[in-house]
Amino acid sequence: MSDQPILTLDHVTKRFGPITVVDDVTVNVHRGRIQVLLGENGAGKSTLINMAAGVHEPSSGQIIVDGHPTRIPDTKASEALGIATIHQELQLVSSLSVAENILMGRLPQRFGLVDKREMYRLATEALTTVGLHVDPHMPAGALGIARQQLVEIAKALSLKARLLILDEPTASLTKHEIEHLFGLISQLRSEGVGMVFISHHLDEIASIGDSVTVIRDGKFVAEVPATTPEPELVRLMVGRSIDEQFPRRATPPQEPLLSVQGLTRKGTFTDVSFEVRAGEVLGIAGLVGAGRTEVVRAIAGADPYDTGTVTVQGKPLPKGRIGAAIAAGVGLVPEDRKAVGLVLGASVEDNLGYATLMSSARYGLVDRRGQAKRANLVAKRLAIRMRGLGQRVGALSGGNQQKVVLGRWISAGSKVLILDEPTRGVDVGAKVEIYQLMNEITAAGGAVVMVSSELPEVLGMSDRILVMSDGRVAGVLAAADADQHTVMSLAVKEVEPDRV
Ligand SMILES: Nc1ncnc2c1ncn2[C@@H]1O[C@H](COP(=O)(O)OP(=O)(O)O)[C@@H](O)[C@H]1O
Ligand SMILES: [Mg+2]
Repeated sequence: MSDQPILTLDHVTKRFGPITVVDDVTVNVHRGRIQVLLGENGAGKSTLINMAAGVHEPSSGQIIVDGHPTRIPDTKASEALGIATIHQELQLVSSLSVAENILMGRLPQRFGLVDKREMYRLATEALTTVGLHVDPHMPAGALGIARQQLVEIAKALSLKARLLILDEPTASLTKHEIEHLFGLISQLRSEGVGMVFISHHLDEIASIGDSVTVIRDGKFVAEVPATTPEPELVRLMVGRSIDEQFPRRATPPQEPLLSVQGLTRKGTFTDVSFEVRAGEVLGIAGLVGAGRTEVVRAIAGADPYDTGTVTVQGKPLPKGRIGAAIAAGVGLVPEDRKAVGLVLGASVEDNLGYATLMSSARYGLVDRRGQAKRANLVAKRLAIRMRGLGQRVGALSGGNQQKVVLGRWISAGSKVLILDEPTRGVDVGAKVEIYQLMNEITAAGGAVVMVSSELPEVLGMSDRILVMSDGRVAGVLAAADADQHTVMSLAVKEVEPDRV
């Protein structure tokens, strides 16, 4: 009996209208085992587990709990079966207290009223199990993401779940918080809880999982042990080998294009110096909060800085002037393309023309005909998938939006392209196209500075890697000599102010 799965998603399919998002996938979850679901963004992982969480019912196939075919029409039914789900988007109600969130739907009663004392006692007990020491009276929305996640886990545990589903729980956690979470997961595992752990971070899988189910484009690809080597997992996940996934074609580096000397903004980054040559891709790695985005924004004139110099092709750039940076050939593709990179309501054509517009706006004229012609060329070159140049950018997929932002700089003739997390939220096909664009830019004598939190991407696409830690340059590595460990150990290093 002991090898009977707690839960089987048995040949389940989920369609939304004409679109099949999960296609005939089977997953088994056992007591005291961690089943990893691995797949690229959009592979269908969340949709798959949502069928066990009572969010969706399968279009075909069945759900088997303890050997019995079972319907899970809603979240209450899922909880009643001992399944607790921590969704990718956190579900806490910000305005309610931590205690109310933990005990939602099962608040303790006394004489027909909520027994507040008992509620806070139970909540405190639940919070203790996850090692979170916060006041259960405070509104959940006042906690940071990591703590909200721990509250969700406390809630799941207080449900005495026998099966815990965690949908990308590490996405917004720091290294330390991830270690804490993993400790908790191991403990639950040893207590016999079965788990589904969704991730696309390969390094996490071997350390946490038992078995890995790989899905791609909604379809089951393979089930393999968690000890499977990373390159093999990558190949299964994306259907391409590493070389095909990161198609960097190195160009011999030439003259320096961008030189940054002693760049400092008090309290944000300190004494940052580096050089990027024509033909080169410089990757900038580091933990969230290391100051990477702030530095590249300062270089591109988007934000001010206190001291230091930025020089492009030998000419110093004035501080904090985007227009001047653009005119000097520096283009920034920001981290949050929706907030600052793109005008979602405007057409592809207008978005592509925007950079040229910014640098030539002082003449007070817009060359409409020239803009349309350039936009057409760039859209073709970048293979932007759209109905036409007049389509709203907001209606394009993430990958195609990103190509529009890149295309804008290419059409403006930028020499130095600064890309901040260029492939976040972009599917694998479009990712490779973005990498190919980086190759084209460097082959044409341009330079690329790429900030990225995806280590495989940094390692796979950079020629040199600059690692930042706590606002300083912790080290610069030739990509050929770097691996995940050398980069991470620099990223967590305390940089001595005097030593750099
Ligand atoms: N309610 C829905 N209606 C239509 N399409 C959906 C719906 N939910 C998800 N999808 C689509 O299904 C695909 C898989 O999504 P998801 O399960 O969230 O993937 P993952 O969690 O692996 O990133 C995506 O292309 C997404 O746009
Ligand atoms: Mg998901």
